[in-house]
This record gives sequence, C-alpha cells and structure tokens, in this order.
Amino acid sequence: MIAIGSDHGGYLLKEEIKKHLKEKEITFKDFGCDSEEACDYPVYGKAVAEAVAKGTYEKGILICGTGIGISISANKIKGIRAALCNDCFSAEATREHNDANILCLGGRVIGTGLALKIVDIFFETEFSKEERHKRRIEMIEK
Ligand code: RB5
Repeated sequence: MIAIGSDHGGYLLKEEIKKHLKEKEITFKDFGCDSEEACDYPVYGKAVAEAVAKGTYEKGILICGTGIGISISANKIKGIRAALCNDCFSAEATREHNDANILCLGGRVIGTGLALKIVDIFFETEFSKEERHKRRIEMIEK
C-alpha cells in the first residue's frame, strides 16, 4: 500500500498518477490536498512521511510544484529517504543505492508521460542490498 500526497502545485499530476496506480491495481491512500487551491506543502509532506516511517505504508509519493519543498519536508522525518527524481536514471539509482522510500516529483517540472515512467521504475526497482549501500544508509540515520 502506497501513501500519496501533494500540494496545489502537484495536484494535477497526482490525479494522473492515481489513475495510473488504479490501472495497475496498486492500492494507495491519498493524504491530500484535494484541489488546486493554494495550500502548504509541509502539511502533506510530513503526513505522508510519518505514515511511511510508522510502517503503515510501504512507500510514498509526494508532489509539489518543483518537488523540492515537499522532499525537504519529508526528509525531516526519521527513517525517511525521500528522493526527488525528475528522470528515470535517478529513480532507478535511488532505489538501488539509497533504498529511497518516498518518490518526490515536480508537477511543474515534468510531463505526465515521464512522471508515470519514473513511478513505474521506482516501484519496480529493488534495493541492491550491497554492503556499501547498507553502510551509507546506516550512516545517514546516526
Ligand atoms: C507553490 O507555489 C510552490 O512553492 C510549491 O509547490 C513547491 O514548488 C515548493 O517547493
């Protein structure tokens, strides 16, 4: 089960991603926002990050205009590795190397087609479990 959230700058892309997840029969919970009306990205960034950190949701997706503010917010929560990926290479690498547990996207930066491809790659790529990557992730938490 995936936790998904956005601010107004990411709302439209979030709706496209939700359609895509439904088509792929991937279950999710939307933590808001619910329209394009201006709102504050830390509210949604932290709500999704806390749900993932608790273990209630396996992974998350967060979207704001750039993907930057919402990723900074999510990364304040212990245990969260939120990765802003606006390209396919980064999406694959952050799963393999960082075991990223939240994908962040910039709704005003990339188009829907690329975003959906990034989502697929992020959720299909496993963590490599290599010692050096495990060690580095442990170093982040200390
Ligand atoms: C909202 O205007 C915008 O600042 C927000 O979506 C995001 O890009 C912040 O990092």
